[in-house]
Amino acid sequence: MGGYVQLTRVLGTLLKMILKVWAYSGLVLVFCFLLYYVYGGVFAVVLLFFALTGVLYHVQDNFLFYPELPSHSRVYVPIPSTLGLPYETVQTRGSDGVLIHMYFIHQPKDRQRLSPTIVFFHGNAGNMGHRLQNCRGLYHNLHCNILLVEYRGYGLSEGHPTEEGLYLDAKASLDYILSRSDVNHSEIIVFGRSLGGAVAVDLASREEYASKIWCLVIENTFTSIPDMAKVLLGWRLLQYFPLFFYKNKFLSYHKMKFLRVPTLFISGMADSLVPPRMMSELYNNCRSVRKQLLQIPDGTHNETWTAQGYYHSLAVFLQNCRIQMEEKGDFSNKIDISGWNNVQNI
Ligand SMILES: *[C@@H]1O[C@H](CO)[C@@H](O)[C@H](O)[C@H]1NC(C)=O
Ligand SMILES: *[C@@H]1O[C@H](CO)[C@@H](O)[C@H](O)[C@H]1NC(C)=O
Repeated sequence: MGGYVQLTRVLGTLLKMILKVWAYSGLVLVFCFLLYYVYGGVFAVVLLFFALTGVLYHVQDNFLFYPELPSHSRVYVPIPSTLGLPYETVQTRGSDGVLIHMYFIHQPKDRQRLSPTIVFFHGNAGNMGHRLQNCRGLYHNLHCNILLVEYRGYGLSEGHPTEEGLYLDAKASLDYILSRSDVNHSEIIVFGRSLGGAVAVDLASREEYASKIWCLVIENTFTSIPDMAKVLLGWRLLQYFPLFFYKNKFLSYHKMKFLRVPTLFISGMADSLVPPRMMSELYNNCRSVRKQLLQIPDGTHNETWTAQGYYHSLAVFLQNCRIQMEEKGDFSNKIDISGWNNVQNI
């Protein structure tokens, strides 16, 4: 009898519980639905945000690197001999194995080793062949050799341009030139224009490479890509974007603090792309004891090098570097600078 009472009690409780749940199941369902709706919605929004920022992040390369402009830049690279410049085509590999295409434009063999060598980093569009007019001017006015570097993803170089990749290319080009016994390792000039300026600054601010660089020349380059984005897009909002949002940063302004090599800042005051104030900011932040800001009144972004007195100013800077190094006692011999006395624009 007692057992029967207990069983009905248990069944009764169970039934009550099921009924309770059943009564509330409508609510549970609503809760489940809400959970799914809210959670799923958040998830969808997160996913959407993720995808959108992902697209924005990765599309940035397309706004910075223009290896296809003008068209055929990836297949046709003008050769230095068309301007009467003796040269060798050189290929070297970056430390990550990417094959880099370069021109070594050299003085006549008897003078090659006596001449300084410029490692030339070009801007963000076209290929190195589009800088040959400028190279001819450097070649004849400064009597120098030129290693013209074509970044990965440009011209006939392999790969795809990225910020880190361009830095690797810069290292590889300096390593290459120092592997040659027929150039003077004491007079390596690193030159960079526009984007190339940021590549040059990165290289020269690295301790292991700074000691190998005689002097640095940068022209119409920017303080950083985030700064340029603010200039070009003019969104006040951009100020609040964290740095990691920028795929390509090229933080030259910060690297100026680590720069110790003699540096010439060439600033075209009519530059309509990179604001000339950026060159002044870089100059002011540079910690090198030997630095010079050369402001060229009519200099435009791409064509400052065509201005009157451009090569002469460069030659004077290099002469000063030699004299000052001599005074520091770095050189025991008198240096012959007679070759640079008749500098002219051609
Ligand atoms: C290389 O450059 C240094 C520094 O200007 C100079 O003292 C030296 O004589 C040069 N070497 C040759 C072979 O010209
Ligand atoms: C500089 O030249 C490149 C092509 O080499 C061109 O795309 C760019 O618009 C020029 N910039 C200015 C400011 O003229």
